[in-house]
Amino acid sequence: MPAKHASRLDDLIFCPLDLPAVPSIDPESFVEWMKADPFKTGEYPKAHYERVVGKTYPWLMRSLQGDLTSLASAFPAVMAYCQLYPFSRIRNVIFLAQNGHQSVFTHTDSDGLVGMRFYLANKSTEGLHFYRGKEPYDYFNCYPKDQQGNPYSANLPDYFDMSQKTYARFPQGVRSFMLNSARAAHGIDSNTCRLGDRIAVLVQGELDQERYQALMDDSLKKYGEYAIWY
Ligand SMILES: [Fe+2]
Repeated sequence: MPAKHASRLDDLIFCPLDLPAVPSIDPESFVEWMKADPFKTGEYPKAHYERVVGKTYPWLMRSLQGDLTSLASAFPAVMAYCQLYPFSRIRNVIFLAQNGHQSVFTHTDSDGLVGMRFYLANKSTEGLHFYRGKEPYDYFNCYPKDQQGNPYSANLPDYFDMSQKTYARFPQGVRSFMLNSARAAHGIDSNTCRLGDRIAVLVQGELDQERYQALMDDSLKKYGEYAIWY
């Protein structure tokens, strides 16, 4: 299906966000909190994921779906930070702590054109990289289903130009950003640290178009030189 090009922002693959500094947490207690209720019931928990993808699941994940009270009581500053993102209602907050010395293979995320993110901890910001789509997709499902309804891993080189690897760059001290999982696929290089040294947060919900537009206008004005376009 040809891309709609509804907005110029649809072609924005990556941009740091003009938001206050990400609150600091103690990585060890945060990882403990994540382990207290690991992701068990979602569509792609570890075992299922490894069966489908045939690769090691590189993260410890905690996923809050709808009910954010455990985050609000344990880490209120992190909860408050999520609320700075341009959603009229936050639906999910997903925490991914990259296991030590694990790379994250190339993939697309389910939030499509607008993936709102921040790093609670990041010792290897240089590792995030993108491969542009061979066409400007509006949505790309990494795990389509076969005729029997079983998910399988899409062969990304058929759809993305793997010959051009573009690395994200972050301004000093900035750990909030957006990425686009339709115009490009992304991956993370192998890190050089321990579990807890690199924790990504995905904030998902109902986008407030006005706040989104304003945030991106400010972010592009401030960090346009770091932006990656399709
Ligand atoms: Fe991702």
